[in-house]
Order: sequence, then structure tokens, then C-alpha cells
Amino acid sequence: MCGIVGYVGPRPSQDILLAGLARLEYRGYDSAGVAVIDGEGTLGMRKKAGKLAVLRDSLADSSLPDGNTGIGHTRWATHGGPTDENAHPHLADDDRLALIHNGIIENFAALRDELLADGVSFRSETDTEVAAALLGREYRNNGGDLQLAFRGVVNRLEGAFTLLAMHQDHPGLVVGARRNSPLVIGLGEGENFLGSDVAAFIEHTRKALAIGQDQIVSITPDAVTVTDFAGTPVEAEPFDVSWDAAAAEKGGWSSFMAKEVSEQPEAVANTIRGRIQGDQVVIPELEGLDDLFIGINRIIITACGTAAYSALVGKYAIEQWARIPVDVELAHEFRYRDPVIGDDTLVVSISQSGETMDTLMAVKYASERGARTLSICNTQGATIPRESDAVVYTHAGPEVAVASTKAFSAQITALLLLGLHMGRVRGSVEDASVDVAELTALPEKIAKVLSSEQEHVTQLAGWMADTRSVLFLGRHVGFPIALEGALKLKEISYIHAEGFAAGELKHGPIALIEPGQPVFVLVPSPRHSAVVHSKVVSNIQEIRARGARVIVVAEEGDAAVLPFADEVIRIPLAGAMFEPLLAVVPLQIFAMALATAKGLDVDQPRNLAKSVTVE
Ligand code: G6P
Repeated sequence: MCGIVGYVGPRPSQDILLAGLARLEYRGYDSAGVAVIDGEGTLGMRKKAGKLAVLRDSLADSSLPDGNTGIGHTRWATHGGPTDENAHPHLADDDRLALIHNGIIENFAALRDELLADGVSFRSETDTEVAAALLGREYRNNGGDLQLAFRGVVNRLEGAFTLLAMHQDHPGLVVGARRNSPLVIGLGEGENFLGSDVAAFIEHTRKALAIGQDQIVSITPDAVTVTDFAGTPVEAEPFDVSWDAAAAEKGGWSSFMAKEVSEQPEAVANTIRGRIQGDQVVIPELEGLDDLFIGINRIIITACGTAAYSALVGKYAIEQWARIPVDVELAHEFRYRDPVIGDDTLVVSISQSGETMDTLMAVKYASERGARTLSICNTQGATIPRESDAVVYTHAGPEVAVASTKAFSAQITALLLLGLHMGRVRGSVEDASVDVAELTALPEKIAKVLSSEQEHVTQLAGWMADTRSVLFLGRHVGFPIALEGALKLKEISYIHAEGFAAGELKHGPIALIEPGQPVFVLVPSPRHSAVVHSKVVSNIQEIRARGARVIVVAEEGDAAVLPFADEVIRIPLAGAMFEPLLAVVPLQIFAMALATAKGLDVDQPRNLAKSVTVE
């Protein structure tokens, strides 16, 4: 939620800020703004409701003064609707100071009352303007010492925040702070950057510093200083970004989502690479950490959204291979219900961004209760892995489209690897050779689905552009894929969609079936379980008998589905735990093609943001 960028250096900052915001727009896109300080020490600011393009157009008409110090913001509204006034930056100290914010300041009402009583007036409905006004007052009370004033402000705020601020009396200085919200530093030559994530400055530098919780940073063109909230210097952790700017570009694709769907073979291959030794799965990051997996009697996987559906696939795989009970909990439910956990529990969190607030809080909560914690994450230097005892990175590369696709496949891959690694450590998997062969064959099989079904599924979506509701059914590991197929459709096509466990059909959902109702059915291979396969085929007959339009996703050669299906989408043969990675692909393509047929913005669906850093 909300993207933040800051720059100090020798170059005019406006274009650097706009380019950074374009890469961060996935974090929120209901309004955007930039502020710069020019060489004369004058602060200029422009902010506009709407997508970044609106701000760009306004700046193209009349640019801000050239300035080498600047901050920029792209917003996902929390306090106050998406208007020009509520957009960031917010100004204070007679418009000489600008501040931007990501997060929610929980005690803003009390602070606002205090400032109102002090004679301050406000122009917006945001919690952010309160922080700006507070900084203005602290600045005056501290004799114009921006760093001291900033420290005074962050110590008074409650909630979650990343703040950046600058003052026209201090060109060449941007101060920032973070509490439970992301902020990273980009190190350039004679210039430095701040960003919500490395995408903000990836075209300028791949050298970065991660800032810990409750820390303050000051950047000038030649120096970076980091302290805690008390002002004590701390070491920030350096890291190199493993991908470059080109990886975060659309590169000729119609949308980031289309690009990312097509990148799934690579995302899966990169996540597997270096983690197979002979016939076994050995995750190097987990070597020496066997204690995480021995002496536990329970695993809880916690996540939100798409990541939580990958967790459901992980439950089946880990239970099968590591022979340990696994529960999947939505992070926001887990944390607020006094779960029974302790040092015999391993809590695995999954997050593409590594910043989802609900998931982060669940990890912190689990640690406080003495549980062991491991995260599966796609973003280096993110907060969730930093708060966990161990991390297994997915190597999907940057995911920009709001609807998650390649990260989902990489998450499932990481969970399969984790299940096999754990099974080896716990002695429940002696010979992983068949599963290792399945894993290594996955990228090619995903590529095959992409090439063989793209046209068919796109055509299907075109025919169904006026559909008002689509249902998805699956059993076993097909159930989470049914949920994910429905989520993709909801997210980007705004069509009512629901996923059900096929066995649950007769217990309610079948009442939804009326003539013409499209239903996707994920049919498991009969080679895995003839019983489960035949039960799904029975479910198909039940809905067909009630007039459903049945679209099956079934493995090549499965003829049992043919008499009852209106459409058959074929996937290659794969082991039971590996099928979800193939079956999800046509559902992603379907959602994308349907949204496109409806003329919708596939990458930036309404009301959503990719990284939800507020609770
Ligand atoms: C948001 C996004 C989803 C994503 C979820 C979890 O809701 O719109 O696409 O699955 O957050 O994100 P995470 O970064 O934790 O995987």
C-alpha cells in the first residue's frame, strides 16, 4: 500500500522520482505526488488524484523547478478518499517542509486534536498531514534541526509507518523512518535513494541497504546514516539486488500479468536451481537448521490471498512427505484467536512481497509465543524474512501485476522443496528420486501448457465475456487451485467467482447451478487415485445434469471426462503434488483473457494493491 521514493544527488530529481513511482505503482494507484527542492532552496510540489499518468500530464504541462532533492508517493487510500488534497506529499511549516507516508498512524486523532488546539489548520482528511504538521512544530521547537525534529515525531506516532521528509532549509537531505512498513536504501555514486522496495531505484543501482524496524535514515548525496529511534547509530545490512531493471519492464508484452504468466517455467526452474543434490532435495539456506524440523509436532502455514492458496497445496505435500500435521491459517485470523502454539510448532509464512502487514504480524506473534518461524518470500531484504528464524527465497523475479501468478507457482515449488527437504531431515523420505524427477520436469511441462492451451483458453474467455458468474471445483490439491482460479477472476475481471471442494457440492453449492452456469472442474489424474478421479467425474455428471456448462482441466489421455464436458483443457501427465502447477496456468490465462475482453486494466485492478502493508 503506497509506494515511496526519495532522491538526493546531482541530477534533476523529478524524472527520477516519476520513474521510481512508475515501478512502485503496483503498491497503490489512486493518486500520486512529488516534491522537489531546487538549488535556490525553494520547495515545489504537485499532487493529483488518479493514476500516475495524471500527475505526469500535469508536470508535462508545467514542470516543477529543477531540484536535486525530492520525494514522491503513489497512494492507496486509507484515511480520506482519493482526492488531490488527500494525495501526498503533505506540506507544513508554511509549505517549506514536505512529508510522505505509507501505513496507518493509529493515534492520529489525538495528535490532530492537540495540533488543532495549537492553532494548526489542516487541508486534508489524512493521518499523514498530522505527521507533517507535527514535524513542522518539532522543527521550529528544535531550532531548525530536521533530524532531531524527525526523531521527535516518530517517537510520538503509533501504528505502522514509513515516512520520508525534507525541508527547503536543507537541500540535499532526505530523512526517513520505518516501523512495520517497508523502506530500503539504494546506494549510488554521489547520489542516494530511498524506496518502498528496490524497484524504486533499480535502474540506477543494484546496491542496497536494508533498514531494520524502528530505524531512522538520513541520506545526502555522499552519506547515509542510520540510527534507532533514540538516535543511536546502527549498522544497516548491505545486499545486492539479483535482478536488473529489464526484469521489471513489460518488454513488449501487453501487460505485466501476461509477461509474468509466461515467465512461470523460469520462475519454477530458478526456485529449484541449486536445491537438488543427486536424488535428494537439499535447501542450502536450511543446512545446519535441522532443529527447525525435529522435535516439532505441528506446522502452521500462514499467509494471505494467493499465497494462502499456495499454502493449502503445501499442506498436502508436507503432510505426505514429512508426516507431520499441517494447518493453514489466514494470517489475520491466526493472530487474533489465541492459537495453541509454542516451541513445538513451526510457523511457516508465505509472502511474495515479504511486507504484507497481516502476515508480518502473524510471524511476530508466533515468535513471541516461542514458535520457530520460517518464511517463504520472493523479495530480498523484506521485513518478513528478517523477522523469521529462516528463509527460503522463491526466485520468481520481480512481480509487478497486482494479481499474483509466477510468485504463486514459485511458492508452491518452494513448498514442495520444503516438504521433501523436511522429509529427508525427519527420515520420512528415503528415496526422493521420483519426486525430484517430477520437480525438474515441471518447467518444461508448464511451458507446454502455455503454448498448447493459450489460444483455446483465450477464445473460451472471449465467448464468455458477458458471463456474470463462474464456479470452480476441485478435490485434493485441485481444491486450492479452484480457489485460486476463482480469486484470479474476481481480482481482475470483477466477475463473481467461487471455488469449492468438489465433495462439498451436494452440501450447498449445487443450488447455484442453473442452465448455462459455467463451471471449471479440475480433474485429478486417475493414475493418482482411481477413487478420487471417479468421484470428480461423478460431480461433473451431477452438475451437467442440472445444465451447467462444464469446462474440465484434465490430463492428456483422460477419456472418462469427454462425454460430460463442454470444453476440455489438457495438461501433461504429472505426479499428484505437481499437477497444481500445471492446472493453474489455464485458469490464469482465462482470467486475464476475460478481463482483456471486457476492456479492463489487467495489471491494476480497481480497489486493490499488490502489497498490503496496512491491517
Ligand atoms: C494482496 C495482493 C494479492 C496477494 C496478497 C498477499 O492481496 O493483491 O495478490 O496474494 O496481497 O501478498 P504477499 O505479498 O504477502 O504474497
